[in-house]
Amino acid sequence: MKTPTKAVIPVAGLGTRFLPATKAMPKEMLPLVDKPVIQYVVEESVRSGLTDILFVTGRDKYALENHFDSAEALESRLEEKGDDEKLALVQNPTHLGNIHYVRQGGAKGLGHAVLASRSFTGGEPFAVLLGDDVIEESSHLLERMIEVFVETQSSVVALVEVPMTEIHKYGSVKPAGQNGDVVSVSDFVEKPKAEVAPSNYAVIGRYILRPEILDIIETLEPGAGGEIQLTDALAIAARNPETSGGVVGVLFSGERYDAGDKLEYLKATIQLATKRDDLGADLLTWMKHFIADK
Ligand code: G1P
Repeated sequence: MKTPTKAVIPVAGLGTRFLPATKAMPKEMLPLVDKPVIQYVVEESVRSGLTDILFVTGRDKYALENHFDSAEALESRLEEKGDDEKLALVQNPTHLGNIHYVRQGGAKGLGHAVLASRSFTGGEPFAVLLGDDVIEESSHLLERMIEVFVETQSSVVALVEVPMTEIHKYGSVKPAGQNGDVVSVSDFVEKPKAEVAPSNYAVIGRYILRPEILDIIETLEPGAGGEIQLTDALAIAARNPETSGGVVGVLFSGERYDAGDKLEYLKATIQLATKRDDLGADLLTWMKHFIADK
């Protein structure tokens, strides 16, 4: 199968965890320091060679479309002022990959969103990136997953080890062997209780999928939370490797931020800001004083 060049990014979610900030603004537009979360994800996709990107959108996501389009009035104003630095910041998102849009038609689950990509992916393998997970740039997770896909020709999920007390927030996998960072997967359970979780290996929001997964999704009944779950399709693929090509996991130990959770979002903002040349030193000095006073 060809090396994937297409990425699907579901962005139709309502963002209820961040109300009231997300009442009139898509959650994907929340900034981490000064860049919307979604731009980090699109930059990661393009860096990894996935330059054709499909946003699976929903109602009231215009801000997101505008962010990746040109902003003529703003651009001419900055040109007149000769402010090249800000002009570049405005224009950068416009030049990131080829961005396409399709409407999901209701928030019926991640599997349902992925199925909406069928005519875009056109029988090719493709990546799925979830906007809530921001992966540290230097860790090259997606590049590694593509490499593993090319080697194994199996669908690839990203895995992290989490404490058992956290596994109910994730898809959990049943491992059937491990070679370095590559884990063979024989089954999946979506958001299991700790007592029934097959392992503490949790699925995070990066996937490289064989096109057969779309046929499997079409056969699914609603699963956890009454939604069509991508994890349920992966479970069928993992149990039937001879027809689906099987599923493997890449075990990730680098830094990632869950921008969909308030505390994690705050931590992500601080971590990213402390790494910045223009902010890091001053922020750290302030934080030391702030903590000393508490
Ligand atoms: C989705 C998946 C879940 C995965 C998680 C990673 O859940 O269904 O298997 O572990 O993303 O972020 P969500 O967080 O969208 O409910």
